[in-house]
Amino acid sequence: MPKDEEQVGMEDQIVIKFSHVVAENTPKGLAANRFAELVDEYTDHRVKIEVYPNQSLYSDHEEINALHENKVQMIAPTTSKITSISKKWMLLDLPYVFPTDAALQEALNGEVGDELLDQLNTIDIEGLAFWSNNFKQITSNKPIRHPEDFVGKNFRIMPSTVIESQFQHFGATTSKLEFNDTFKSLEINKTDSQENTISNIYSKKLYEVQKYLTISNHGYLGYVVMMNKPFWDKLPVDIQQQIQRAMDDTTNWLWIKSNEMNQAQLREIEKKSNIEIYTLSDKEKKEWMDKMTVIYPEFESTIGTKLMEKMERIRE
Ligand code: LMR
Repeated sequence: MPKDEEQVGMEDQIVIKFSHVVAENTPKGLAANRFAELVDEYTDHRVKIEVYPNQSLYSDHEEINALHENKVQMIAPTTSKITSISKKWMLLDLPYVFPTDAALQEALNGEVGDELLDQLNTIDIEGLAFWSNNFKQITSNKPIRHPEDFVGKNFRIMPSTVIESQFQHFGATTSKLEFNDTFKSLEINKTDSQENTISNIYSKKLYEVQKYLTISNHGYLGYVVMMNKPFWDKLPVDIQQQIQRAMDDTTNWLWIKSNEMNQAQLREIEKKSNIEIYTLSDKEKKEWMDKMTVIYPEFESTIGTKLMEKMERIRE
């Protein structure tokens, strides 16, 4: 039978539901769609990845439970959002932890990344990859250029004790809110500031409800792509291999694509809005770094000395 007619029957096809919370024109959104296409190609239609973007199935607050209950088989939350169930992941939330792309890649593609992914096995999750978005920037309704400018601000944050401590240390308060509630909370002044990547600021139009944007690159925002482990373990080995191949190809592509997208969308924000954009000078960045990194010891016992030492070696 010619290839086209040799279509896999629906009953034979393995369907994997992949839920995420961001828009499609973001690094994670594009990567999820690309991964789905590659899996289709590499498995010769034997596996179908159904992607549900924009929280259309589950919010960031619900998706980890949904994964554990096998209601969806794949999710890709920010690494910050799994720190409550796997505490060593707090490492990646430390401000300025891996301050360059090279340091990040060395950490995530090496022993640090392996150790973090291994942690997930103990909670029935198969960690498949780290997907990069970019570094976080600050938006606010008042200029934030120096550490003292944080005093009295109320930041919308992801659920992460490290991020909470980072802002509280500077005299700001925090509200842990879901990603898709961020725009509204800024619009109605429930919060007045937030941190995020340019792609999230752009795709969710946060620039429309904030007056100032500071390019600070003070923290990393990336994802861990995860599968329900009992489901993964039951997949035939050749299927696992093709899924992992599609994942690796997508991940490599995304390292470059996510940088390009964040840069292009910053230019779009400049064109489309009146938000005032300020880039920290090297001196100011050093001032932020010196002040923010004092919170590291607070988390050392939770993250573990060995992992902290590996991190310090990469930062040197
Ligand atoms: C956020 O909650 O701010 C973001 O992490 C959302 C995402 O998945 O990028």
